[in-house]
Amino acid sequence: MTRKLLVTSALPYANGSIHLGHLVEYIQTDIWVRFQKMQGHTVHYVCADDTHGTPIMLRAEKEGITPEALIEKVHAEHSQDFAEFLVQFDNYYSTNSEENRQLSGNIYRALKANGKIATKTIEQYFDPVKNMFLPDRFIKGECPKCHAKDQYGDNCEVCGTTYSPTELINPFSAVSGATPVRKETEHYFFKLSECADFLRDWTRSGTLQAEAANKMSEWVGEVGENKLSDWDISRDAPYFGFEIPDAPGKYFYVWLDAPIGYMASFKNLASKAGLDFDEYWKNDSTTELYHFIGKDILYFHALFWPATLEYSGHRTPTQVFAHGFLTVNGEKMSKSRGTFITARSYLEHVKNPEYLRYYYAAKLNGSMEDIDLNLEDFVARVNSDLVGKYINIASRTAGFIHKFFNGRVSEPLLLGTFDNDPIKRPGLVIWQIKKESAVISRHFEARNFSQAIVSIMKLADIANAYIAEKAPWVLAKNLNDKADEFALRQICSESLEIFRLLSIYLKPILPSLVKSVESFLNIEPLMWADIDKPLTQEHLIKEYSHMITRIEGKQVEAMVEANKENLQAATPAKAEPKVEAKAETKAAEEGDYISIDDFTKVDLRIAKILSAEHVEGAEKLLKLLLDIGEEKPRQVFAGIKSAYDPATLVGRLTVMVANLAPRKMKFGMSEGMVLAASDERGGPYILSPDSGAQAGMRVK
Ligand code: MSP
Ligand code: ZN
Repeated sequence: MTRKLLVTSALPYANGSIHLGHLVEYIQTDIWVRFQKMQGHTVHYVCADDTHGTPIMLRAEKEGITPEALIEKVHAEHSQDFAEFLVQFDNYYSTNSEENRQLSGNIYRALKANGKIATKTIEQYFDPVKNMFLPDRFIKGECPKCHAKDQYGDNCEVCGTTYSPTELINPFSAVSGATPVRKETEHYFFKLSECADFLRDWTRSGTLQAEAANKMSEWVGEVGENKLSDWDISRDAPYFGFEIPDAPGKYFYVWLDAPIGYMASFKNLASKAGLDFDEYWKNDSTTELYHFIGKDILYFHALFWPATLEYSGHRTPTQVFAHGFLTVNGEKMSKSRGTFITARSYLEHVKNPEYLRYYYAAKLNGSMEDIDLNLEDFVARVNSDLVGKYINIASRTAGFIHKFFNGRVSEPLLLGTFDNDPIKRPGLVIWQIKKESAVISRHFEARNFSQAIVSIMKLADIANAYIAEKAPWVLAKNLNDKADEFALRQICSESLEIFRLLSIYLKPILPSLVKSVESFLNIEPLMWADIDKPLTQEHLIKEYSHMITRIEGKQVEAMVEANKENLQAATPAKAEPKVEAKAETKAAEEGDYISIDDFTKVDLRIAKILSAEHVEGAEKLLKLLLDIGEEKPRQVFAGIKSAYDPATLVGRLTVMVANLAPRKMKFGMSEGMVLAASDERGGPYILSPDSGAQAGMRVK
């Protein structure tokens, strides 16, 4: 049965570059879509840039261009990045489109006609200089808890407390520096509180992964519990977005029109490709609709979006697939560690996008768990699986077919009889590989790509062992008679057929590599059903040339280094509002001074040295354990070995930088820095506080 599927990935914001975190999602979706297309189903994969909202508006202003110019530039960059990572959308559109304006307007009108829209007057922070209401993110001030300066309106980056902007001490607008005032304004709300019964059913009806459904149940609550609040869907001018029909000066909040962007992208595709829009979106639709998203935006996709669809006369999603977040070497992506890696920088250094596609596939299992890109493992895994196991099958045998048999395989392939060993009978390995197809396709369907790869690589191991035992390279040196020739041709032909079968299984993950396989084997683009169409003598096998090269560790190292430099170039990926109006900041920009805000960013603490020891193999370092009043002491490697006998340090107080990003060193993690003085006159001399100071006190 052929199915009709409409598949989406979340729409990336149009104010930053695509990075390796984003790619977890787009690669995951693309693999699934390619798999479905190989089954012969009708599949449309659409996406778009998410272009509206305050950050994009302000970012454009800062760059001195219009928001339209900014989103156009980013659209070109995003499209290019996705294309190079072989993410093959059927349409990559923009939420700032005419289709989206109309659909958003229509959906809003339908919700209103259904009694689901209300207005309410609320109080919000307002920037009197910029004449605009301020989202929480654009209000800064002093943390009410630790008194760190220059913290955002929603949480403190120094002590981690979350709060509302009303709690900030001396709040100021991150846009103009002015002191914000409280101001009343009328907002439009979607009455989500009235959708609880529908949402409770919807989230429990198999539309979500179990872990996601549990989370949603918590948010929706049980019957009788009133846990959902109405959703604020309007923002006041100035705002980059769509004006709400019959509400001058009021705009749809970006998250209202963003998911409608899925529809709009499909509508645009439908008009180009002659598809029936309603067949996919009307409430009686029998087609399938799937959204791939990150776990951070589950709330929007599992509550707001289905409710919006349900109460505006549309179908709801068949399933929402949420994935976890990317970590690099076990930690959150970090600019200071060089692991906040852009798609572009990967392409520049590592080059081959299919290595990353393969590695992500090897890690993805269809759950919401985070996935880790361990850079050493990445290099080892790609080299061992792709070069050492998969390509090896062809590279060791193809040459003989060309050299001795004019590029023609033996035929029929499966009926060779020269070997009487029942286990090693020709055809057995091929049979084993074909037999796995149902299992492998079940894994792909369930987005359990890691299990698919486990199965495929097991088959590759069996194949390699089989070929090694037959040793065609030995046969080829001693071709005495017809029987020898037959045996050589048979094993090489089998190897190529094995290679063809494994290529089918790997094609959703490695589309470009498999394209070169198709050209090498002289066959039509492989579909899943081609499992049963073996190579024949009609296919003139081309001369084998290298299809993939090993990846070098130093390429990855260079990539990480390059992303560290990016930080110094100070090009933030997301729009980061800059505070200009503060007097000190001004002064700091004009001379060789830093502002007090800059200084307070450095968290200096009194540290008690609990232990100090030599580090084997390190010329300059001592390993220190430092008590700074935290639960666990900090481990710091300090370059003071030349000046101190470790035994004399234990028990002393000194000063350390406590908020320096942890750094992985050859000998272990270093979780801070000890301060010491030195120049040509001597040193290093570590610092000592005056008596009375206690471990953990802040130095300021
Ligand atoms: N614009 C919204 C989505 C609107 S959908 C109607 C958005 N954009 S985003 O650019 O921040 O993220 C796009 C997608 O990439 C989201 O699904 C998000 O979860 C995912 N990821 C962004 N960073 C990620 C990681 N570090 N790891 C894995 N996925 C990540 O959210
Ligand atoms: Zn704080």
